Amino acid sequence: MVFSKLWLNYKKLDDTRKRILISCEHSLKESAAFEELQTAMKAMLPEAIVLWKSEVFDDDSYLIVLGIHPELDREEYTIAASLNITEICGGSEAGLLYGVFEFLKRTALAGGFIGFNAQAKPSQPLRMLDHWDNADGSIERGYSGKSFFFKDGELLVNERTVMYARLMASVGINGVVINNVNVRGSAKRLLTKDYADSLEELGELFGRYGIKLFICPDFAAPISVGGLDSADPLDERVINWWKECCASLFSRIPNLGGFLVKADSEGQPGPFAYGRDHADGANMLARAVAPFGGLVIWRCFVYNCAQDWRDLKTDRARSGYDNFMPLDGRFDDNVILQVKNGPMDFQVREPVHPLFGAMKHTKLMAEFQLAQEYTGQQKHVCWLVPMIKDILGFHTKHDMQDDRVSRTVCGVAAVANTGDDFCWTGSELAAANLYGYGRLLFNEDTDLDELAEEWAQLTFGDDEQVISAVSEILKGSHKAYEDYTVPLGLGWMCKPNHHYGPDPWGYEFDRWGTYNRADRNGIGVDRSPAGTGYSAQYAPEWAEVYGDIDRCPDDLLLFFHRVPYTHKLRGGKTVIQHIYDAHFEGYEQAEHFAALWASLKGRVDERTFKNVSERFEEQLNCAKEWRDIINTFFHRLSGIDDKQGRKIYN
Ligand code: GCU
Repeated sequence: MVFSKLWLNYKKLDDTRKRILISCEHSLKESAAFEELQTAMKAMLPEAIVLWKSEVFDDDSYLIVLGIHPELDREEYTIAASLNITEICGGSEAGLLYGVFEFLKRTALAGGFIGFNAQAKPSQPLRMLDHWDNADGSIERGYSGKSFFFKDGELLVNERTVMYARLMASVGINGVVINNVNVRGSAKRLLTKDYADSLEELGELFGRYGIKLFICPDFAAPISVGGLDSADPLDERVINWWKECCASLFSRIPNLGGFLVKADSEGQPGPFAYGRDHADGANMLARAVAPFGGLVIWRCFVYNCAQDWRDLKTDRARSGYDNFMPLDGRFDDNVILQVKNGPMDFQVREPVHPLFGAMKHTKLMAEFQLAQEYTGQQKHVCWLVPMIKDILGFHTKHDMQDDRVSRTVCGVAAVANTGDDFCWTGSELAAANLYGYGRLLFNEDTDLDELAEEWAQLTFGDDEQVISAVSEILKGSHKAYEDYTVPLGLGWMCKPNHHYGPDPWGYEFDRWGTYNRADRNGIGVDRSPAGTGYSAQYAPEWAEVYGDIDRCPDDLLLFFHRVPYTHKLRGGKTVIQHIYDAHFEGYEQAEHFAALWASLKGRVDERTFKNVSERFEEQLNCAKEWRDIINTFFHRLSGIDDKQGRKIYN
């Protein structure tokens, strides 16, 4: 089994020490923290011997002391250094592990023992990754090969899973959902004895690395595996079935964190079929897992996916709020609603979801998508971390002490972008999303310039030119992608189903509620109070801004308003000119990034160079299609020429 170690590829340090001494209580010798430190030290100082004791301490040794300090928070750590000694403490084994990873990271970046002090604890309590892996080994919206969790119906626990747990723990992930929210095939049997042994083994492995294991159950499991004729959440037989199921599940898998549920959404079963609502469904499951400290994470991605395009009243953007806001206060304490970052579906630009800050009596979690479904499918480079940081830092303007999204939630989840290919994420550059996501949730004040450079250095080595080129590419990539695809918040001009490449009317007459309504007079959807009224779902200050065509931010204008092509943006340009400029400039940026990468030939290893070069070639081809098709589409509709006289095909 060959796979990259990504940012945990510990390199040799510039240090001639003969001995590395690791001192800790006997009980910690079995911990992941101790093991990681040993592995890393052996790779970083191959000539030194690594010992578990401190007696032979002299000038030729470096001593690392590991300990647990119960006065620290569970996931908190401290690092204290003096000459030739570093002491790392955690509030628990998980906190200690985070401390060890921090020590190793800083040592790797500095190329030696620098002796530093630090103290940290995570900004977000729940830091999760949701895998959309199917039991047959395929991955929904997977762009990095097959699943490494499942193969032909079997759950795998092997070397790769261990490496995965190490990678995730190193960036602070503490919860992982292993299967697709659309529960298909054998995954329905995850609740049964069929998977008991392998789930237990995986749970144990995750537990060692401070990660709780979660699964997506089939809401209709009482029927699909239980043999009942109903899954009605208020039916006593159903309630008892879940209670028994959870009792045996949790007793076999002590590290099970609970369930993630997609119900009454895109064809998944749910409480609506029985005339019940989402609170009825979620609470029924919550009561079954509560005796074991389990959580039910319930998704708010509920909308009418059989809409008639002729219907101008129904607005998919409204659906999350319309479905869940009336239920505020009805959910049990161990239910968390998982809300996508925007009201539609992981587009390159959407407004922040209006439920954040609005539901004051319900626990919420924010959901992002690292799998680049709509953002270039890991063929285009698109670093999503700045967008995630912006959204978490968004002031909801709801009446509360700290109104930022990050403070209105008790956790964050992201759809994973991994698979079983050598580099885990299809493109080697896409691993920057995985790394940056975890680091940002651990410390929401993380400086993104430093983050990009740090990832590049840990991944590609110390060459300054490589670090600077890679971080420049990462930092500009989201804007470039947005510019050459769908600027101004319009969204959905991609090809239907697989969501790659341009098709301006691909979704226009379909059932998904994703329309741009472009015609010869104008473009955009009126979501102001005079239109669908979506803008009124925000706190008053934002409702006013978004609802007012003159105050709405340019980058969301076409999400909230329908305007003529000659409408002037706040920056002074017309909408049509902005569309042309963005497409030409976005493409040029992509060309610039490809050239920057090409300049690194011989500075990164051949395999990496080839992996990314091939993707840039595809990115440029596809970006050119986006540029020309979208520009032509709007030129044909509007009849307005580009002021700069650039080539627009007709
Ligand atoms: C999108 C995506 C689906 C996915 C869904 C979800 O619609 O295309 O594949 O199942 O999101 O988040 O549930």
